[in-house]
Amino acid sequence: MKPTATMDGGSPASEVWIQPTGAALAADVHGVDLSLPLDPEAVDAIGQAWTEHLVLRLSAQRLSDADLVRFSQMFGELDVHPQYRPSPGELPYARWVISISNIVVEGRKLGSLGYGEAAWHADMTYNPAPPRASLLYAIECPPEGGSTWFANMYAAFEDLPTEVKAQISTLSCVHDASRDSSGRLRSGYAPVDDPRATPGARHPLVSVHPVTGRPCLFLGRRAGAYVVGLTLSDSEALLDRLWAHATQDRFVWKQHWRVGDLVMWDNRCVLHRRDAFDNRQRRLMHRTQIVGEPMLGLERPARS
Ligand code: OGA
Ligand code: MN
Repeated sequence: MKPTATMDGGSPASEVWIQPTGAALAADVHGVDLSLPLDPEAVDAIGQAWTEHLVLRLSAQRLSDADLVRFSQMFGELDVHPQYRPSPGELPYARWVISISNIVVEGRKLGSLGYGEAAWHADMTYNPAPPRASLLYAIECPPEGGSTWFANMYAAFEDLPTEVKAQISTLSCVHDASRDSSGRLRSGYAPVDDPRATPGARHPLVSVHPVTGRPCLFLGRRAGAYVVGLTLSDSEALLDRLWAHATQDRFVWKQHWRVGDLVMWDNRCVLHRRDAFDNRQRRLMHRTQIVGEPMLGLERPARS
């Protein structure tokens, strides 16, 4: 969508310009400075582009946490982040903004996920109502590595053979709560060896997106996953097959970060993963997450 002169002589929204990446998902949003107030038309244009492209990138931003929170709240109520612990005198927004970082200051980690690879996942799907979306803002980036990859789960579902669609469309899967997306055990959890005993929420393997009504694969994370009701070996074989299918290059777009990039993804129909990077380099991102709702499945098995 190119900017065009508007009838009324040009509202600020006419400067919003959406440029699809040409990959299976994602688009750049040009013409907005998120540190300034946004008019409702611009918010609508961004919201529509988000529904259409699943991932949006807004580059060259200069955002305080207040800006990040204010913009994120335009798309819904914010979710308290998974590492939040109340502390006296905490910074404003502390409950909503999580630092994703490898930086260590005086022995204290500044954020989560470190510098290693983070395997494909969606955020916080071990909760009964996973976040609708996450927004990740780059404050410091390594010169190489640390890229984030996104995969389109509508496309992955559509592209499955008909008999697999029918087979999986009434199944549900357990999403592991015991480990974070870098594989670290979360505090309060014991290691689990048998996926049938994995703690975490159950969601339909094929979920219906609450806004578009379209079905998408809803895989969450591979580690510790279990398809309810199947033998362990059938569950493992089915999940291996679905994961190999869903993360093929043709469903994927890669974000190479630059300072000032804000990337927002629809967590209900997108998976993401991160490449490792050199721990001698600093990487600091701030993330917000928008409250979601329980994922609903198809009412009847898919036929095509
Ligand atoms: C996240 C996440 C990846 C990254 O914040 O949920 O997976 O690139 N981050 O830091
Ligand atoms: Mn994540």
